[in-house]
Amino acid sequence: MKNLNILILAAGKGTRMKSQKAKVLHHAGGAPLVSHVLRAALSVSERVFIVVGHQADDVKSLFSGVTFIDQKEQLGTGHAVMCARETLRELDGDLLVLPGDVPLIRTETIQEFLRFHREGTYDASVLTAEIANPFGYGRIVRGKSNGVERIVEHRDASPDVLKINEINTSIYVFNMSLLFDALSKLRNDNAQSEYYLTDVIAILNSAHKKVGAWKTVQAEEILGINTRKELAYTDQVLRRRKNEELMADGVTIIDPASTFIDAGVKIGADTVIYPSVQIYGESEIGEDSTIHSFTRISSSRVGSQSTLLEGCVLEESVVGDDVIIGPYARLRPGAKLEAAVRVGNFVEIKKSTLGAGTKAMHLAYIGDATIGKRVNVGAGVITVNYDGTNKFPTTIEDDAFIGSDSQLIAPVHVGKGGFVAAGSTITEDVPAESLAIGRGRQVNKENRAPHRKKTSG
Ligand code: UD1
Ligand code: MG
Repeated sequence: MKNLNILILAAGKGTRMKSQKAKVLHHAGGAPLVSHVLRAALSVSERVFIVVGHQADDVKSLFSGVTFIDQKEQLGTGHAVMCARETLRELDGDLLVLPGDVPLIRTETIQEFLRFHREGTYDASVLTAEIANPFGYGRIVRGKSNGVERIVEHRDASPDVLKINEINTSIYVFNMSLLFDALSKLRNDNAQSEYYLTDVIAILNSAHKKVGAWKTVQAEEILGINTRKELAYTDQVLRRRKNEELMADGVTIIDPASTFIDAGVKIGADTVIYPSVQIYGESEIGEDSTIHSFTRISSSRVGSQSTLLEGCVLEESVVGDDVIIGPYARLRPGAKLEAAVRVGNFVEIKKSTLGAGTKAMHLAYIGDATIGKRVNVGAGVITVNYDGTNKFPTTIEDDAFIGSDSQLIAPVHVGKGGFVAAGSTITEDVPAESLAIGRGRQVNKENRAPHRKKTSG
């Protein structure tokens, strides 16, 4: 939108969260609260400014391409806007103020509000909502002609004002020069000894400026997060929205209520998600894949027509097409499975590549290994990659066969088509097409089996 500046207030500590962490850094829907507000802001204008104070450096490190304004001491929402005076003074246009703790606000609602403000040619407008339980919110006191007269904070309200159900969402648009004039008249003689931005409304009214209030019907969107209970509720709403978006795009989610998918996740059509699945970060899943219950995928990519059976954990891994994993397999950072790989139960893979068609079906540890195509990794195989100080690589070429319960003491190389006999401890390279046996020879002693009593059952 042309000539619109946006100021996000994110300097407060959030005392009611009872946390060491600044409120706007708490996560909902897989991202910090303030990032949801920023996303909505950027969808209406690029000129976005964020007021930071409490844990300012942590908030600043989250985003690039926005301007930060420091509020060294948090003396209230009005004071937060005053801190932006120098930065905004040179700019033209209106100022939209958004609190950093309303993560559910949607672009469409902001746009409707801006339209109300512009079409009504107001000097200032406040976005309001009517809610069943207005506890804690500032109340909208309407005057004679039903216009907004003033906003009264819950803590400063009389019993009569407390009965008002129309609340201040803390979202406003202002004519900038009038706003800064009004801010210079703010006082902090209230219950919290703070400079309240809300008081600007009464100040502008007494200067006979045109002040409007637009009531949204989307009351759910304006919830301000002040407590952990509200945080949990927001998380639910954001996840529900994400699930609905994915379902609209052709993904089957069998039980949306138990499915946790972060906002940044992409999933192709016809993929089926079973109950109790978690998919986090910027993960991507292709089309027509199936993710079974109790699997957690974090910052990973899974191709199309692949199946993750129950109880798998994937972190920073890449899985190709037509792969089957699990149940109960663990892919740690750097695991890369090419097409048609099979990884079975209780297999752990770290920083390793498994070429197309390779199988590791049971109880194996594969770390720091590069494995070619069509390799069979038997049950219980271990790449022994760590000597207590350093990590060493293992390479296994195409079509090799590693017999069950073998250990490959890295660094070691198994050539193309190499065959390691079951139960071997391999300490030297295995040339291509060779059979390697590295185990104690068996001795049979006739009639020397100890006698044992036969027990029934
Ligand atoms: C505020 C409004 C209240 C409204 C409610 C809606 C005021 C005085 N009250 O109350 O009318 O109903 O929001 O959610 O404005 N912040 C700063 N610097 C500060 C203080 C706050 O940047 O010095 C930021 C906070 O980080 C937060 C936002 O401003 O993102 C709102 O502050 P908060 O303390 O949550 O205000 P509420 O008590 O919720
Ligand atoms: Mg709040």
